[in-house]
Amino acid sequence: MDSHLVLIEKSFDTCYSIGAREALDELPECFTITDPSISGHPIVFASSCFLKMSRYSEDEVIGRNGRIFQGPKTNRRSVMEIREAIREERALQISLLNYRKDGTPFWMLFHMCPVFCKEDGRVVHFVAVQVPILGRQRLNGTSLSEEGSGFREIVFGSCRREVCSDSLVDTGRVLSLDSDTRGLNIAETCEASEAEKRRAASAIKNILSVLTQHSESTGKLVCGKRCSLPGATLVSSSLNISLGRIKQSFVLTEPHLPDMPIVYASDAFLELTGYARNEVLGRNCRFLSGVETNSSVLQKIKESIQTEQACTVRILNYRKNKSTFRNLLHISPVRNATGKIAYYVGVQIEEEYKSQERHGLNPEKRQLSCVGAVRIAVRSTSIGAGSSKS
Ligand SMILES: Cc1cc2nc3c(=O)[nH]c(=O)nc-3n(C[C@H](O)[C@H](O)[C@H](O)COP(=O)(O)O)c2cc1C
Repeated sequence: MDSHLVLIEKSFDTCYSIGAREALDELPECFTITDPSISGHPIVFASSCFLKMSRYSEDEVIGRNGRIFQGPKTNRRSVMEIREAIREERALQISLLNYRKDGTPFWMLFHMCPVFCKEDGRVVHFVAVQVPILGRQRLNGTSLSEEGSGFREIVFGSCRREVCSDSLVDTGRVLSLDSDTRGLNIAETCEASEAEKRRAASAIKNILSVLTQHSESTGKLVCGKRCSLPGATLVSSSLNISLGRIKQSFVLTEPHLPDMPIVYASDAFLELTGYARNEVLGRNCRFLSGVETNSSVLQKIKESIQTEQACTVRILNYRKNKSTFRNLLHISPVRNATGKIAYYVGVQIEEEYKSQERHGLNPEKRQLSCVGAVRIAVRSTSIGAGSSKS
C-alpha cells in the first residue's frame, strides 16, 4: 500500500478502537476527520452521509485535503478564516460554498473543531461537520440545491477536474475557474438558521463523544478541549522556579514528545505574544506563524532542529490579536547533565526593541545570555533528577 495511505489508516486506527468507523457511520450527519500532522493535512475519515452529499466515493476523498470541495465562487476570505482557525487550533463555525463532484454548488454551514490528545494536549485530528443550508440558496433565481441542471453542468463542470489533481487546485484555480463563471450571481454569503447552527454544534458534540469513547481502550485518550497541563507537570517544579528568574522572552520545547510542544513559556513571552500560559503550553510553536511568514525561514528552523544546531533567524510572527511583529529568534538545543538534548530553547526579541538597544547589551548577546541561564537551570535541576529526559 502507498505509504501516504498507510499513514492515513494508522492515524485513525492508533487513536480509535475497532468499531469506531461503524459507530461514526451510524451518526446521521455529514462530517469529515482530518490529520494535521500528515503532510497535506488529509481527510482520514468521511461519513457515509458526507459521501452521499458530495457524491464522491470514499477512495476519492480519503487522503485529500478538504479544499477539493471548493470552487470558483467559494469565498476566499472564508477559506482564510478556516486556515487561521486551523493554525490557531480552535473551533470555527462559518457558511461556506462548496461543490459536489458533478460541479453543483451548495451552501453549507461548516463547523470545525480540534480533537486533543488528553495526555500531551497535542491536536491529533480536526473534525468538521457540513450542514447543508436549506431554503435560501439561489443562483440566478435557481435553487442551488436543485439537481441535474444542464446549465450547471456546463458552468461548473470544470470543478470536477479538481479531484484529479491537487496541483491543479493549487495553481491558478480561482483565476481559471472564475472566468468560466462570469456573469453568475451567487450570493457572497449565506446565513444559516439558528436551528442549523444548533444542529452543527450538537453533531460535533456527538462525534467527539464517539471519538472519546473509542479512544479509551487505545491508551490515546482524546477530548474536545485542550487539557491545560499545569506547568509543574511539564517541567519539574524546581526547573520551573529557576526558569522563572529569567526575565527575557523565551520558550522551552520538548523534542521527545510528539510535535515538539512548548513545555515552558516565560512571562515576557506571554506579554510579547498576548497569549495566556494555558493557551501555549502543549502546542508546537507554529501557531506564531501566519500567512505572511516566510516559508524558507521555517525551513531553516526545521533543518537546524534536525541537525541539532543553533540558529538565529528573522521571522514574521503573529500575536493572539493577529497583529504581527518582527522576531529576531534564536533557537538552540539545551542538554541535560548527561549531555543529551533535553529541550530546545527559543529566545524572542521584537526587532523594534532591538533598534532602540533599550537593554544596553546588543540583542544577540542578550539572547546568548538567556540561553546560558537556561542551560545552567536545566543542567543543575537534571543532576540527580534521574536524567528523565535522556
Ligand atoms: C476537518 C476538516 C474538514 C474540512 N472540510 C472541508 C470541506 O468540506 N470543504 C471545504 O471547502 N474545506 C474544508 N476544509 C478546509 C480545507 O481543508 C483547508 O483547510 C482550507 O481550504 C484552508 O486552507 P488552504 O488555504 O490551505 O486551502 C476542511 C478542513 C478540516 C480541518
